[in-house]
Amino acid sequence: MSNISESSILLSVQNLEVSYGPVQVLWGVTLSVRKGHVVSIIGSNGAGKSTTLNAILGVRKVGRGQIVFKQEDIVRQPPHERVKRHMTLVPEGRQLWPKMTVEDNLLMGAFPSTLRKDAVPNLSRVYDIFPRLKERRSQLAGTLSGGEQQMCAIGRGLMAEPELLMLDEPSLGLAPKIVDEIFEFVRNISREGVTILMVAQNVNYALRISQYAYLMETGKITLDGPSEKLLADDYVQEAYLGST
Ligand SMILES: Nc1ncnc2c1ncn2[C@@H]1O[C@H](COP(=O)(O)OP(=O)(O)OP(=O)(O)O)[C@@H](O)[C@H]1O
Ligand SMILES: [Mg+2]
Repeated sequence: MSNISESSILLSVQNLEVSYGPVQVLWGVTLSVRKGHVVSIIGSNGAGKSTTLNAILGVRKVGRGQIVFKQEDIVRQPPHERVKRHMTLVPEGRQLWPKMTVEDNLLMGAFPSTLRKDAVPNLSRVYDIFPRLKERRSQLAGTLSGGEQQMCAIGRGLMAEPELLMLDEPSLGLAPKIVDEIFEFVRNISREGVTILMVAQNVNYALRISQYAYLMETGKITLDGPSEKLLADDYVQEAYLGST
């Protein structure tokens, strides 16, 4: 990636180290995300994928390393400052407020006060992308189907007008047909110009919709490259795509 101009890099993470108490789980993680790309992080359970996204958003404390977003080192900024700069995370497990309506959940995504004035147009944009959420706007989020909950979680993320949208396992626990639908939404959001950094257990899908990918194993990036290259890689095929 050495001949890519600095300005086309939206996010650059350098030598990230994160520990839970005495246990170090990220070891010098370095990755970058080009503006307009979908980038995926793949890897098995416990590899450190969620920890990486949480550290980028700032909800997980970083021991060492640099996080440069839009040419600015944000590593010491609290999460709400990072959201204000237009990055957001749709967390693993969706984390909706089950007793609140779909619409109130969406509005919670516009929490930095600078975003509130645009909440109405942003809401209608989210409803354009997810018509099903519009139909169910007054329904309690806890009563939505799994796929609808995922749509609601992504929609809430979009309320923060992200330039960088991070998605942690958007397809987890969903039926194959719904997984298709969710990835189609991800593709459409990317086509609207939102840069996406995504963790996905569905490696096949992740590599098919992303342009670039990182393989993470026990807290380290062990392989990276254009997604089609990883898709064709013998080791990835064997260890993550179940071919022999
Ligand atoms: N709150 C925590 N306290 C202590 N250890 C943690 C905590 N959260 C995660 N870990 C540990 O950190 C390591 C990385 O976890 P992480 O959740 O980042 O992995 P992951 O790649 O997202 O896995 P999965 O695919 O299962 O979601 C694991 O060994 C995990 O047990
Ligand atoms: Mg995880």
